[in-house]
Amino acid sequence: MPGEGGLVINKYEGVIKRYREFLPEIDDRHIITILEGNTPLIKACNLGKIINPVIEIYFKYEGLNPTGSFKDRGMTMAVSKAVSEGSKAVICASTGNTSASASAYAARAGIKSFVLIPEGKIATGKLSQALVHGAVVMQIQGNFDEALVITREIAKDYDVTLVNSVNPFRLEGQKTASFEIADELGAAPDYHILPVGNAGNITAYWKGYREYYDAGKIKKLPKMLGFQAKGAAPIVLNHIVKEPHTVATAIRIGNPASWQKAVAARDESGGLIESVSDEDILKAYALLASNEGIFCEPASAISLAGLIKLNGRGFFKKGAVCVLTLTGHGLKDPGNAIKVSKEPVVVPCNKNSVLKVMGLK
Ligand code: F0G
Repeated sequence: MPGEGGLVINKYEGVIKRYREFLPEIDDRHIITILEGNTPLIKACNLGKIINPVIEIYFKYEGLNPTGSFKDRGMTMAVSKAVSEGSKAVICASTGNTSASASAYAARAGIKSFVLIPEGKIATGKLSQALVHGAVVMQIQGNFDEALVITREIAKDYDVTLVNSVNPFRLEGQKTASFEIADELGAAPDYHILPVGNAGNITAYWKGYREYYDAGKIKKLPKMLGFQAKGAAPIVLNHIVKEPHTVATAIRIGNPASWQKAVAARDESGGLIESVSDEDILKAYALLASNEGIFCEPASAISLAGLIKLNGRGFFKKGAVCVLTLTGHGLKDPGNAIKVSKEPVVVPCNKNSVLKVMGLK
């Protein structure tokens, strides 16, 4: 399309229009988009030297979606479908990001949003998003798993659309991240590493890679490597965790809705799902921010913590291409960033004092 001054503008219109042939049908007039997707795949330039110089590490930086997380890819599809079916309200349980995304897309669609979050257990940025987008925010005196049970029951009996990842349209939208990665690399990576919470995203990525493979767009499939936090690792432990706990509040989940699908993604791909400690999550979080200039939230940093763990036991062969999904932006959770960092220095207001701190005097 020619723009002003004769420039050719390649207009980006969001994931639904870009990957329409692989997505459920939807009429143009029902598409609700905030131009999600099209996120950068960033090659590590310093961490390789520190971790393993003979593997290739890429970050799929999903924090750069409109509401700061990968949820937007699924939400454009789920809310568009809800609108096309005449729904006037959406509901979700959330550890924070789903509520931020659902409320933003509902605002865009001009419909209501109701969100249930575990009281005191979501990052400040995410809470502020749901509030400012006008959701009815309910802080439940329970955890995510309990809130999800309530929302499922309400959506079954009342005229309100559930937009958690048990809504199949969510996973349809989220699988577009695999397409983008494959399009950019010209192939699937050898390994795809990502956090596992309610287990929707690992399911969606695997579905996306498989569909691209079946369509002949890629010649091989990646191994899916999922990571849970030690205190919230039901899939690893193979039992429900009644009281999950982790600093990575986004994945503080003890009974994932897509449990079996995540296990299938793991097994069909020849991958694994393991856990890492909060301490290692926070180390990876600080390492990434201070070496690559990429700020993600703690739950996202589990991808890097997982890679470091596996690398420590010689898991990766020379030349292995690893893509790590960084699921959410670091600014959502500034409290943890400040906790893992040095305190700012208080300095008297004069040049000499500043120079002293700079080590120049
Ligand atoms: N990373 C972040 C930043 C998340 O917010 C979530 C899930 C995950 C990873 C895990 O993805 O659930 O598909 O396995 N957050 C949900 C929410 C549960 O409510 O925002 P998953």
